[in-house]
Amino acid sequence: MKVVGGSASLPLARALARELGVPFVDVSFEKHAGGFPDGEQYVRLLSPVAGEHVVLVQTTHPDPAVVEYFLLADAIRDAGASRLTAVIPYFGYGRQDKRFADGEAVSAKTMAKHIALDADEMLTMTIHNPDILSLFPIRAREVSGIPALGRYLKAAGADLLLAPDDGALRLVQEAAVIAGAPYDYLDKERLDSYTVRVTPKELKVKGKSVAIVDDVISTGGTIATAAKELKAQGASRVLATCVHGLFVGKAEENLRVCDEIAATDTVASPHTKVSVAPEFARALRELTG
Ligand code: R5P
Repeated sequence: MKVVGGSASLPLARALARELGVPFVDVSFEKHAGGFPDGEQYVRLLSPVAGEHVVLVQTTHPDPAVVEYFLLADAIRDAGASRLTAVIPYFGYGRQDKRFADGEAVSAKTMAKHIALDADEMLTMTIHNPDILSLFPIRAREVSGIPALGRYLKAAGADLLLAPDDGALRLVQEAAVIAGAPYDYLDKERLDSYTVRVTPKELKVKGKSVAIVDDVISTGGTIATAAKELKAQGASRVLATCVHGLFVGKAEENLRVCDEIAATDTVASPHTKVSVAPEFARALRELTG
């Protein structure tokens, strides 16, 4: 087995190769210094993969990472790899998982169809809707990123874990077992892509350190709304945690209400504090027996 990392996931790919004790294949991402003037991407594998089971690690966000994923998968196949396992730590284009109106692209299916062209199987992490896995014409599996957050939360010693909506309930329940802390949840209503509202609820958090656990932080609106509610009810400290930290738009400004932010390395950001390499390594060992 050898591990290849796309530029969106290099630290995680290297950590995964270390965790598995297998070689990491370096990639050149520029043909000339500065790259192509029109911004087209380029990849070249810098060591052989013929006859190897190759694990390609690349988050499919933002858009250039999608193109790079396809270039790498194709190069790996052309170089004679015997098996290709796609590890997509954060599955970008997972939001549109159904056709809500005639003529719409089902983006998650589009991605699944094209990933399956070169990959024999796909592993991704903590997806919003696990039904997406059935859109793949190859074996597709969700790996939980919550154990990584649970380890972080256990060390951080939060008094209470909070799911910002009922969708995150399954995540906070899993994290609570690992962190050995109680949990609660809020009822959230999404008004638009940027605005959410929570139903008032007494949380008994006066003087407590509370960690919010979610799958994704995008604009930070969901976490900020929950954090304001916690502070209003007397929480002494609010730690915002997520598996996938996108931090788009005004996220940093929105999240100033939090005392700390922690995300995993499925998406690299200044808030990446914990690696999911052990989780993917375990899943790959299970896959290969
Ligand atoms: C949605 O229900 C998800 O679990 C997240 O809560 C959501 O994607 C976060 O988005 P934002 O940070 O923009 O509120």
